[in-house]
Amino acid sequence: MNSRKLSKRVESVAPFYVMDVMTRAKTLEETGRDIVHMEVGEPDFATPMPIIQAGIKFLEKGDVHYTKAQGLVELREKISTFYQQQYNVLVSPERIFITPGASGALTVALGILLDQGDEVMMADPGYPCNSNLVTLFGGKPVMLSASSSDNYQLTAALVATAWSELSRGVMVASPSNPTGTMIDSVQMKALVNTVDAKKGFFISDEIYHGLVYQDRAVSALEYSDEVYVLNSFSKFFGMTGWRLGWLIVPEHAISAANRLVQNLYISAPTHSQYAALAAFSAETQALLIERKNEFKQRRDVLYDGLKALGFKMADKPQGAFYIYADCQAFTDDSYAFSLELLENAGVAVTPGLDFGVNGPERYLRFAYTTSLAQINLGLERIKVFLQTK
Ligand SMILES: Cc1ncc(COP(=O)(O)O)c(C=O)c1O
Repeated sequence: MNSRKLSKRVESVAPFYVMDVMTRAKTLEETGRDIVHMEVGEPDFATPMPIIQAGIKFLEKGDVHYTKAQGLVELREKISTFYQQQYNVLVSPERIFITPGASGALTVALGILLDQGDEVMMADPGYPCNSNLVTLFGGKPVMLSASSSDNYQLTAALVATAWSELSRGVMVASPSNPTGTMIDSVQMKALVNTVDAKKGFFISDEIYHGLVYQDRAVSALEYSDEVYVLNSFSKFFGMTGWRLGWLIVPEHAISAANRLVQNLYISAPTHSQYAALAAFSAETQALLIERKNEFKQRRDVLYDGLKALGFKMADKPQGAFYIYADCQAFTDDSYAFSLELLENAGVAVTPGLDFGVNGPERYLRFAYTTSLAQINLGLERIKVFLQTK
């Protein structure tokens, strides 16, 4: 064993439990077993062809240098227009930073906002990287238990009650990973106003906007110019591996964000930025809407199928591509259950333990990032497994 010291910060970042599932799934596949993958948090669709073609056209010129730290002005202008069309809000391109995914956007936002010991509230269950990064930046995530009656989201009342001297801000994600649930316009406005009144910061992770199946997703920017918004080309636009997202900052944070970007990563991947110029074209958008409709169909089949098998769920999740299902009827240890499901039924899912400490042993996250045929096969296998258990 090497006794050389690693930072306390990195020691506080735990690996994901789903890695155990994925490693075992790979081993089983190597022995010839067929596995239905419902643990994967990225679209199974290929990147839309117009985006790929724009990327290739740029690469063929061979001129792959850094861009400005803030990103291509043409791309930021397109994003600015998108905000006007989609949300009816004016966001000047100067407030938009192109980043390596929403993950890169979050490092910039937290670098701007956090000092040692600053507390940041977020919902439990939630996307684990968000709380891990708060810790890495010296902050303290304060995980507030969110219940199905509140759509597994924070509410203004919850935030107001929990606000303390050390509280500095709030982070939300709507639609959420792992629950796919959303914050409606009334609650978003109340949340933004509550945090504003405390002079705190508000980070809104809007990476699953676009993948919504009932109501429109509201942006925190509709209620304040002081919020920080994370978004990405990964999920709706189908560009996970291109590593491209964006951050919108308030006017007064533009210079700070520029300084951080220059130091953290100089610029986001240039070829990905040129490719993304095709992301807002009518042709690409039409294709993305078709894919969204396919996700909706998969959600409906998976939701109805899990319900028929005895999994407990609140209302149908309104967005993203996840269902967070209560499996208490079958087990009191969802982590062990996920490994059993893999071993005996050949179905890979993510255990609740990856999303916080709010009763995670009761939950499994199912991702409908695979075809309808695979989803039906998975449901059939789970049915047989439960009958023989
Ligand atoms: C809620 C949420 N935020 C942010 C991210 C980061 O995505 P990316 O860095 O690919 O944009 C993810 C990825 O799964 C996510 O689920």
